[in-house]
Amino acid sequence: MLIKLDTVGDQFLAADLKILTAFQKTNTEKPSTKKKKTESSTEASASIDHWSDKGLKEEYENLKAAKNFKAAKDETLSFTGATGETVWVVGLGDKTKVTAEDIRKAIAKAFKAAKAGKFATVAFDVTGFNVLKDEALTSGLIAEAVYLSDYSYDKYKSKKTENVSMTVVLGHIEKKNSAKIEKTLASTKNICDSISVIKDFVNEAPNHLHSEEYARRVEADVKKNLKGVKIKILNKAAIQKEKMGMLLAVNAGSAYEPRIVHLTYEPAKATSKTKHIALVGKGITFDTGGYSLKPGASMMNMKNDMGGSATVYGAFRAAVLEKAPVKITCIMAMTDNAVNEYATMPDSIVTARNGKTVEILNTDAEGRLILGDALDYACDQNPDYIIDAATLTGACLVALGNQVCAILGNDQKWIGEILDAAKNQDEYMWQLPIINEWRQDIKSKIADLKNIGTPMRAGTALGAAFLEEFIKNDIKWAHLDVAGVVDSQSHLPYCSSHGASGLIVRSLTHLLVNGK
Ligand code: BES
Ligand code: ZN
Ligand code: ZN
Repeated sequence: MLIKLDTVGDQFLAADLKILTAFQKTNTEKPSTKKKKTESSTEASASIDHWSDKGLKEEYENLKAAKNFKAAKDETLSFTGATGETVWVVGLGDKTKVTAEDIRKAIAKAFKAAKAGKFATVAFDVTGFNVLKDEALTSGLIAEAVYLSDYSYDKYKSKKTENVSMTVVLGHIEKKNSAKIEKTLASTKNICDSISVIKDFVNEAPNHLHSEEYARRVEADVKKNLKGVKIKILNKAAIQKEKMGMLLAVNAGSAYEPRIVHLTYEPAKATSKTKHIALVGKGITFDTGGYSLKPGASMMNMKNDMGGSATVYGAFRAAVLEKAPVKITCIMAMTDNAVNEYATMPDSIVTARNGKTVEILNTDAEGRLILGDALDYACDQNPDYIIDAATLTGACLVALGNQVCAILGNDQKWIGEILDAAKNQDEYMWQLPIINEWRQDIKSKIADLKNIGTPMRAGTALGAAFLEEFIKNDIKWAHLDVAGVVDSQSHLPYCSSHGASGLIVRSLTHLLVNGK
């Protein structure tokens, strides 16, 4: 997908498809009856005052259909322009209420339709979308929606989706803004490319993407695209040496070795004051539940159970490409949760890397086990802050649906910063509490901890309370439960309606690049 800037207006003029906006007329804007009655000015019901192309304006005003076009949100008017080009007028509703997310959604819908229509050159009238009065921001939103919507997963289709080569023109931008816009577009591309990489990981089938292969693919991507990043991969022997008893317990029933992928990035101008953030992710390449086997319907889609690790990798990748000013450690714990004669039985007691003993009462609560060891290992890297991401609990879907990411942690300021980053990116995130009663609920009668608490009660927070047991040295920590948001975001036109969503990568990347 090629995105070009058009400061002169000639590329916009030459495009096969022109996409402009219109706004709903407010009452005060209603054409005055005193005004000389011409068909065009008195009866048009949408505002297109911002169109710079006079010819196009006239063509529109002469359209019969324009009289009934109200420019409500999601309402589109299509006509053929004077030179045979197609023109789409996208309604954005009340101009004073348009948000960045509205723009992403409108662009995504228009872009997908344009792709389906096989237009070679599609030009967006940036002026019309620039409701937030920042051309670089608007261009970034357009590019973001285009790149994200352009993703498709057809690896296993014998008949591949036709590769439509399309040029997207950002029309009518001011020349003085072009350098800033170019910069924004490059950043947007880095972030969206990283999102595509992790969507491929999440969408990959579990018989292909087992732990060993997942680690290999991450390594190959790091070596190819992330210059200067240090990579260390712990195999089973190294993980045994690390005494990661919980990760090994989950891996016990697997045909594959577990992996810890440990990545480190340092900014070029690091000083002793440079902040260090550790990202930790749950990489269960398939969750059968283990001996506490999931019923068939609940097991479907459990290839997504590595989504947390993919999310943190996506953010790490994008932040490195964006030369984030912070040191970043990214730790991904990988295994499947499978069953064979060696698989860990419920009632087993294992010793975690931090020395705590854990009674495994339900082998389906495996995410907290592998993350607990990974978090303890992360603490030993001495970060100032930790964020972990995991498809940890089904309870998260009960509490927050599949649209909202849960956040919990031990430091309100740190949580607040992450919530702000999510808000800025229009990614839904909501905090849940961890209370002492729930901390007590995961204490075992015969070991230090048990891996489940009271069934059907505050499941997401109990998972987080368990993870908290593996944070040491008062490191500020936040846990993201991405169980709901990792896939199937059919309400977001810039995400695929099924499969990986790539959500939360944008929030975390912006936090890493601009936050600290
Ligand atoms: N991977 C699941 C959580 C999950 C469920 C993610 C549905 C996405 C959709 C996790 O390992 C799990 O099975 N958790 C259990 C915990 C319970 C046994 C305490 C759950 O949520 O039922
Ligand atoms: Zn599970
Ligand atoms: Zn799981």
